[in-house]
Amino acid sequence: MSIAFLNDNFLPLEQAKISPLDRGFLFGDGIYEVVPSYHGKLLGFNAHLDRMRTGLEGINLQLGWSHEKWKSICDELCNQNGNGNLGLYLQVSRGADIKRYHAFPENVKPTVFGFAFEIGASPSSDKGSAKTFSVSTAEDLRWQRCHIKSTALLGNVLHFQYGHENGDDETILYNDRHELTEAAACNVFIVKNRVISTPPLDNQLLPGITRNLLIDILKKHSNLDIQERVVHMDEVNNADEIWITSSTKEIGPVIKIDGRPVGNGMIGDIWVEAQKLFTKHKYDY
Ligand SMILES: Cc1ncc(COP(=O)(O)O)c(C=O)c1O
Repeated sequence: MSIAFLNDNFLPLEQAKISPLDRGFLFGDGIYEVVPSYHGKLLGFNAHLDRMRTGLEGINLQLGWSHEKWKSICDELCNQNGNGNLGLYLQVSRGADIKRYHAFPENVKPTVFGFAFEIGASPSSDKGSAKTFSVSTAEDLRWQRCHIKSTALLGNVLHFQYGHENGDDETILYNDRHELTEAAACNVFIVKNRVISTPPLDNQLLPGITRNLLIDILKKHSNLDIQERVVHMDEVNNADEIWITSSTKEIGPVIKIDGRPVGNGMIGDIWVEAQKLFTKHKYDY
């Protein structure tokens, strides 16, 4: 049985109830995070909580909880859910008013919810056993504030579903200038002639914690050339390697794009180097 956290209480997930007037439910008016934890060890905790704080400030939602308070909730969620490989989902919504009205309500307490779900073991960097991914591509039709980790995810859901219905694991997105933004639930990297490139941070993509960790680790511990720059879809389609990154996937090697092979259709050597370094250094932060 999964144990959840709701408004200062730990309780069985199926007993956690919120009001239908909660603005998270009515408007998607909230911010969330997913923090990975391997055997009770949280990965990138401060970076996740910093991003949550920035997101809350970005939508003017005042909660005022310290990272220490969040840390004890996360530790307790891990303990109460068996301390295995867990994703900790944390969500803050603007709370439930007594009516449905778009403007921010006054004197309404935010709703804070958290639960744990099982994730796989930390990915292997072995070509033979690593999970591979296939992707579709589509024009990014989401909003102009994709840097905010909002619970209003319908745009992402529709893009993800498009790839899913094509039999793919993800959908890689591009703007109206055919420049890569990100994927429906991941950031994207490409490799060409050993040079790694990923789009720069702006309002078109989420500042992924895995993205940032990976860039930092590669800069510190490898000689690989890594560039944050505008990436055109022609480059994505002709890349030697494509990777999708997220907290639960780490670095996912993509071997098929729109039904065509990426590079030689197999996991690339640079991915092996990157995933090995990531595995070695990911807890340094
Ligand atoms: C749209 C989007 N981009 C990127 C990411 C990757 O972010 P992170 O590495 O922080 O998990 C996610 C993760 O959920 C996402 O939803």
